[in-house]
Order: sequence, then structure tokens, then C-alpha cells
Amino acid sequence: MEKTLVLIKPDAFKNHHTGDIVKRYEDEGFQLLAMKMMKMTKEVAAKHYAEHIGRPYYAELESFMTSGPIVAMVLAGDNVISRVREINGKTDPKEAAEGTIRKLYAESKGCNAVHASDSPESAAREVHIFFNEAEIFD
Ligand code: PPS
Repeated sequence: MEKTLVLIKPDAFKNHHTGDIVKRYEDEGFQLLAMKMMKMTKEVAAKHYAEHIGRPYYAELESFMTSGPIVAMVLAGDNVISRVREINGKTDPKEAAEGTIRKLYAESKGCNAVHASDSPESAAREVHIFFNEAEIFD
């Protein structure tokens, strides 16, 4: 079964949306294979967002993602990568469709509630930044 890495970002965590977001994914029929609460370090941010280093928003992205607890999880299901991206909505909540997680909970393009892998290659890479095999219950 396809897997994806999802992060509940510091804004959604701080605003008490963690339970609603996890419930949404479970209601969609995805299987939760792994989950942990943690603080992202600058080193983990640099690994996870490697392709964004050097972009004008990187300092803001790093500062935001290391500002408070996040919840990392691995979800599994048919077409989970594209379906979770759809449920999350566009990066900028102003452009996100009604009912999507970002439309409901995100504040801005930077503080946008959730992250999800965008391809099988990203998912394979990102899952192992946050979890080792023993932590994934598949
Ligand atoms: S996408 O979905 O990859 O096309 O989105 P993109 O616009 O390329 O953004 C990639 C990630 O960078 C974050 N981002 C920002 N953070 C802070 N400030 C600004 N201005 C900003 N612009 C983009 C955005 O939230 C994406 O994070 P993830 O975790 O991948 O969703």
C-alpha cells in the first residue's frame, strides 16, 4: 500500500486542530502506520526542506517549523499521496478549496497547518527522516 509523510505544523498544533486533522484522515479511510510529537530542529528542517534552502522564504520557513511542537505521521492507503494533497488543499489557504484542511485551519502560505509528501520519491525520503522501520506499523 502507498505511504505518505504528513506533518501537522506548529500553527495547527498550537490552535488545537491536531485531533480534527487526524480524524479527517482516518475518516477518509487512511491507515495510520506511525505517529509522533516532536520539535523540529534546524538540522531536521534542513534535511526535510533541502530543496528550499536558498529560497527567499527559507529563513521564515525554518523559523516557523522549529517554533513549536509538530506531529509527524505516516499514512497509508490507495493513492494516499495525491489524495492527502487534495484533502490538504493548495499551499496558500487563500487559494485552497472549501472544506480542505488548509482552508479550514491555515493562516497563510507560510503558516499552513500541514505538510504532505508530493510524490512517491519524496514520501520514501521524508518518511525516513522522521521514523525508523521499527516505528512504522505496516
Ligand atoms: S508546493 O506545494 O511545494 O508547490 O509549495 P511551495 O509554494 O513550493 O512551498 C513549499 C514549502 O515552502 C513553504 N512556503 C513558505 N514558508 C514560509 N514563508 C513563505 N513565504 C513560504 N512560501 C512557501 C510552504 O508552506 C511549503 O511548505 P510545505 O511544508 O512543503 O507545505
